[in-house]
Order: sequence, then C-alpha cells, then structure tokens
Amino acid sequence: MRVAMVGSGYVGLVSGACFADFGHNVVCVDKDPAKIEALTAGRMPIFEPGLDTLVADNVRQGRLSFTTDLAAGVADADAVFIAVGTPSRRGDGFADLSFVFQAARDIAQALTRFTVVVTKSTVPVGTGDEVERIIRESRPAAEVAVVSNPEFLREGAAIADFKRPDRIVIGAEEARAAEVISELYRPLYLNQAPILVTSRRTAELTKYAANAFLATKITFINEMADLCEQVGADVQQVARGIGLDNRIGPKFLHAGPGYGGSCFPKDTLALVKTAQDAGSPVRLVETVVAVNDSRKRAMARKVILACGGSVRGKRIAVLGLTFKPNTDDMRDAPSLAIIAGLQDAGARVVAYDPEGMEQARPLLSGVEYAEDPYSCAEKADALVIVTEWNAFRALDLARLRAVMAAPVLVDLRNVYRPEDARRYGFAYTSVGRAP
Ligand code: UGA
Repeated sequence: MRVAMVGSGYVGLVSGACFADFGHNVVCVDKDPAKIEALTAGRMPIFEPGLDTLVADNVRQGRLSFTTDLAAGVADADAVFIAVGTPSRRGDGFADLSFVFQAARDIAQALTRFTVVVTKSTVPVGTGDEVERIIRESRPAAEVAVVSNPEFLREGAAIADFKRPDRIVIGAEEARAAEVISELYRPLYLNQAPILVTSRRTAELTKYAANAFLATKITFINEMADLCEQVGADVQQVARGIGLDNRIGPKFLHAGPGYGGSCFPKDTLALVKTAQDAGSPVRLVETVVAVNDSRKRAMARKVILACGGSVRGKRIAVLGLTFKPNTDDMRDAPSLAIIAGLQDAGARVVAYDPEGMEQARPLLSGVEYAEDPYSCAEKADALVIVTEWNAFRALDLARLRAVMAAPVLVDLRNVYRPEDARRYGFAYTSVGRAP
C-alpha cells in the first residue's frame, strides 16, 4: 500500500519508518527543508534507539523516501497520515490545532482519488469532524474518509511499541476506511495485536483517557511515596504489593520526581479543557495536573533539606536532564523545575546527561555542563539523580564519594538500594523510602 506521512517529527518519522518496514511504500513529508535534507542524508533529527538503521534499511530498499512536496506525496497515497505537532496553546493550555488544520487544507488540494486521511497526532475529541469539514469545504468533490488512529508509542521504545502494540485503535465512520487502515496493520496479525474499530470520537477520547489514566497512576504512587516517608513505609514494596493484583498491574507504579515529556503534561491539560468545555469536568485529572506540577518544585526542596536546609553557595551535581532515559527530549522535564528551584535557592548547578545536554542548553541558564558523571560530581556538595539512565545505575560509588566535597546522594528515581549507598558513606535520600 502507499502511505503519505504529513509531518516528519517524532510520531510521523517512527510510524513512517515502521510502515515501510512492514513492506508498504511510504513518503514522509515535512515543511522544513533542513529536516528533509538531513533525513535524506541519513541524519536523524531526533534520538530514538534503532531509528537510524531502520530508516537507512528502508530507504535502501526503496520503500521510504522524504520530501517537502506534500502534493506529490499525497497524490497517489491510499492513506495520508496527519502527524504534525499539537503543542499546548499559550494561555489556555488547549491543544493548538493550527498545524493539523493547515495540513488538512493542503491535503485536500492534493487528493486525486479515494483516500483515507488519518489523524495520528493526539487531537481533542471532534477534531476528526473538523478535519473532514475543512477537506469537504475546500474540495467538495473529493472522495475522502477521515479516520482517527491514535498512536500509543513511548519515546525510547517507540519502534518496539509500534511493531508490538498492545492494541490498535481505528476510529472510522465508514467500513471501507476502517478496512484500508486495518490492511496497513495486517503484518501485525501474526502478533495477534487486537484491532479495535470504534467511532472516530471514541478513538480520539481513548487516546486522552489512556494518557490521563497513566498520569494518574504515576501521581497516585508519587503521593503514596510522600506518605510512606511520613509514616516509615517503603513505596517500592507498596507498589509491588498492589501491582501484583491483576486489576491494578505492576507498570507505571515507579515513584519519582513527577511525570514530564511531550505527552502527559500536554494531553492531561487538553483533556481537562475539553471536559470543561463539554460541561463534564474531569476533576480527578485536574487534581493530577496540579499535584504533578507542584511535585517538580517540591523535589528541589527535597534536595535542599538533604543538604541541611540550605544550598546557598553550594555546588549541586545533577545527573540526568531529559524527562526519561533513552531520549534527548527535554520537554517538560522535571529537571527544569528542579534546577530552577535549586538556583533560586542560591545553588551552583553542574549537570551531565548522556544525550540531552544540547537540547538542555537553551532551556537552562547558569548551568555548567560536565563530560561524565564523575567530573560532574567533582567537589559537589550533593549529587542528585534526576533521570534513571542505565549509565547511572552502576556508578562507582567509592569513586564518586572520593571526588565529592560532601557525601550527599539524592536519588529521585530510587536507582540505588539505601544500604548500598550507606555502605559507601553517603547520606542517602530517595523517594518514598526510609533514609
Ligand atoms: C507516553 C505514553 O506512555 C505512550 O503510551 C503515549 O503514546 C505517549 O505518551 C504519547 O502520548 O505520545 P512517553 O511520553 O514517551 O509516552 O513517556 P513514558 O514512558 O510514558 O513516561 C512519561 C513520564 O512518566 C516520564 O517523565 C517518566 O519518567 C514518568 N514515569 C513513568 C514515572 O515517573 N513513573 C512511572 O512508573 C512511569
């Protein structure tokens, strides 16, 4: 089948490369000539494990190409995916759909025969209706069906998530459109991935509900962690104890500094707005958003307390800047609020991240960057683990202890066992566990 992917950002690029790998013919379109030029030359605009080889293989096989020419890509496609960005709108937090609607207008002009237009970007309920209205208005005679096919992939594990999904959701108003999209995913029948065909609005809401539920699960365990600290319990064991109940499940119960990234913060806010506008507020999710926001700043206070109540003039080493490991994505990363909180309290911050320092530079001011964890820790009054990169899981604690000015370790991801840190002479603080 022939696929056009409009928007070669994170979702578009990963989905396009994976569809090509399934054997389809894929053209990834983007307005940004520099991005298309880089992709054509084999340079990835984002860091995602395995993506460069997947792209290179499929380009070599002639199944994947890149262009700025939307009309050419769309003209003979069976399915056109809209995978452009939907940032939070400044001011009201609602998803900014201007890129989606512009893509719909451009696609409308380029249609030549029956085509399924698919929104893959996370879009508020009713966006599919609006996309269809825009296309029909600009090209009344166009033979088109508009479908919602939300993406559930995680950064850092995106290719595996795409190829082995828990489920595929196809929101279509007509059967022939659902068939075209099911056919695209046919290579997954072997893995028996469930394909759910729903109405378009149901599919759109399913995506928001999934992210809001996961954000709620994380926030729940984070509050349990705070409670554990007050009553002398261990959140890791509480998480295991509840997670073994099949109705709860063990995943997304890892307490930490609060969720970040390009999806949860934006999608929970957008859901809150949609629900308010629909006159059916989701108060639970509103609280999750507020609790998570204040948590990031509270993590700076946790570091300050671990340093004896003041960090004025102290050198604080931060390990991990990205919102999670295996990505260079800094969007809504907890490190941003934590570092700002520490700097406001008078600390000098030195940071190291395996992939995120370039993206971090424009977002952080007054931060010194180190080349590795050990030079980062040099002469530091405290070492704070903010992101659980594999490289931070087996640090040489004796060596760290030896180069630091004071043996204070604040582990916001519970990477270490308290007894191990103590054995090396650290004053150790983690999340939801006894010191
Ligand atoms: C998330 C969802 O997991 C994907 O299913 C979804 O497709 C994607 O958003 C999206 O909407 O596009 P992602 O943002 O890549 O994926 O990252 P996650 O792995 O879900 O992590 C999100 C945040 O939650 C991170 O800051 C992470 O550190 C935090 N987290 C996650 C925890 O603090 N504890 C956990 O147990 C799990």
